[in-house]
Amino acid sequence: MITTTGLTKVYRSRGREVTALDGVDLHVREGEVYGVIGQSGAGKSSLIRCVNLLERPTSGTVTVDGVDLTALAGKGPRAGRELRAARSRIGMVFQHFNLLSSRTVQSNVELPLEILGLSGRERSRKALELLDLVGLADKARSYPSQLSGGQKQRVGIARALAGDPKVLLSDEATSALDPETTRSILQLLRDLNERLGLTVLLITHEMDVVKSVCDSAALMERGRVVESGTVGELLATPGSQLAAALFPVSGAASGDDRTVVDVTFHGDAATQPVISQLSRTYNIDISILGAAMDTVGGRQVGRMRIELPGRFEENVVPIGFLREQGLQVDIVTGQDPESGPAAGRATGPDSASPAESASASTSAPNLVKDGAR
Ligand SMILES: Nc1ncnc2c1ncn2[C@@H]1O[C@H](COP(=O)(O)OP(=O)(O)OP(=O)(O)O)[C@@H](O)[C@H]1O
Ligand SMILES: [Mg+2]
Repeated sequence: MITTTGLTKVYRSRGREVTALDGVDLHVREGEVYGVIGQSGAGKSSLIRCVNLLERPTSGTVTVDGVDLTALAGKGPRAGRELRAARSRIGMVFQHFNLLSSRTVQSNVELPLEILGLSGRERSRKALELLDLVGLADKARSYPSQLSGGQKQRVGIARALAGDPKVLLSDEATSALDPETTRSILQLLRDLNERLGLTVLLITHEMDVVKSVCDSAALMERGRVVESGTVGELLATPGSQLAAALFPVSGAASGDDRTVVDVTFHGDAATQPVISQLSRTYNIDISILGAAMDTVGGRQVGRMRIELPGRFEENVVPIGFLREQGLQVDIVTGQDPESGPAAGRATGPDSASPAESASASTSAPNLVKDGAR
C-alpha cells in the first residue's frame, strides 16, 4: 500500500546539508498498522512528510495505493491537482492536533470537506458521521478549548478521515497524551484499521505503542531503516534490537562460569517440557532467571532467560537441542569473562551479524531516548 524506494531527503539551510533520509526502502502492506520507531533526529517525521509529499524527497520514489506520488509532483500545475487529489486520500494525524480554535468541532472536521467542494448538507452529514465513528457525536458544537487532549485527538482523527482515505499517517499522535488516553486513542486507530480496512503508518518513540497496535515495525537510525519486519519476524530474528526492546527480560548470571540464554517461544509452544527435557537429557541444572508472557502484535509470546552451568563452549549441544525444538535462542552471556559482562549477546557461533553485535550492550536496548548510545 505504501512503498518507498531509495528515499533520500537532504535539507539545505545556510550552506549546511543535513541528510535526514538516506536511502529508505519501506513496504507497508494493505490493511496493516506499521510503526516506525527511532531516536530523536532519526528522520521519522521527514519520512512521513515525504510519504505524503508535504516534503519533496531529494531522490527516490514514494508509491501510495499504486500511485507514484513522486512522479505526480513537479510536472506543472495540472499534476499539482493530481497530487492534491492523491493526497486527499491520505489522512494525517498530528501530535498537537492542529485544530482551529475559532471553529466548532464539527466545523473543524468539515474543513477538508469544504476544500473537496462538498455542499453544506453533505459536509454536515459526513462530519457528524465521522464524529460518531470516533465517539464524539455529542461534542459537535463544542470548541476545541472545551475538549480534553484525547478528545481533541479524536477530532483530529475524524478530520483525517474526511477524504475517505485508504491510508492514515500519524506522527506521534499520542505523545502529548497520558498513558490511559494513549491506550484509548491507539484502540481507536486499531478499530478504524479493522473496520475501515485502513492502512496505518505511525511514527512513535514509544515502544509500548508498537507493542500494543502494530503488525509490523521498522527501526530508524540516522536516516536509515536498520531493522524492519512483522512483529513475529522481528521476534524470530536473533539479535533483533526491536525484538529485545519490545520484549525485555532481565536477570544476571549468578557467576562467571555460566551461560545465560534467552529463549523465545510463541503462545502454543510448550516450553516447560522442553526445559525439563533439556535438563534430563544432558543431566544439567537449569535456573530460570526471568520470564515473561505478553501479547505483542496481537500474538501471545513468551520469553525466558535461563542459566546453564558452564561456559558457552560447554553448552553448544544443549543450546543446539533448544534450537532444534524450534525455539529461538539468544546468547546473553557465557563468553570469556575477560570481555566483561557487558559484552552481552555478541557471543557464540552466530554472533557475527551486525545486528547482533550492535545490540551487544544490553538485552533491552533503549532505542529511542536521546543520547542513549
Ligand atoms: N526543515 C528542516 N531543515 C533542516 N533540517 C531539518 C529540517 N527538518 C528536519 N531536519 C533535520 O533532519 C533530521 C531528521 O529530523 P526529523 O524531524 O525527521 O527527525 P525525527 O526522527 O522526527 O525526530 P523527533 O523524534 O525529534 O521528532 C534532524 O537532524 C533534523 O535536524
Ligand atoms: Mg519527529
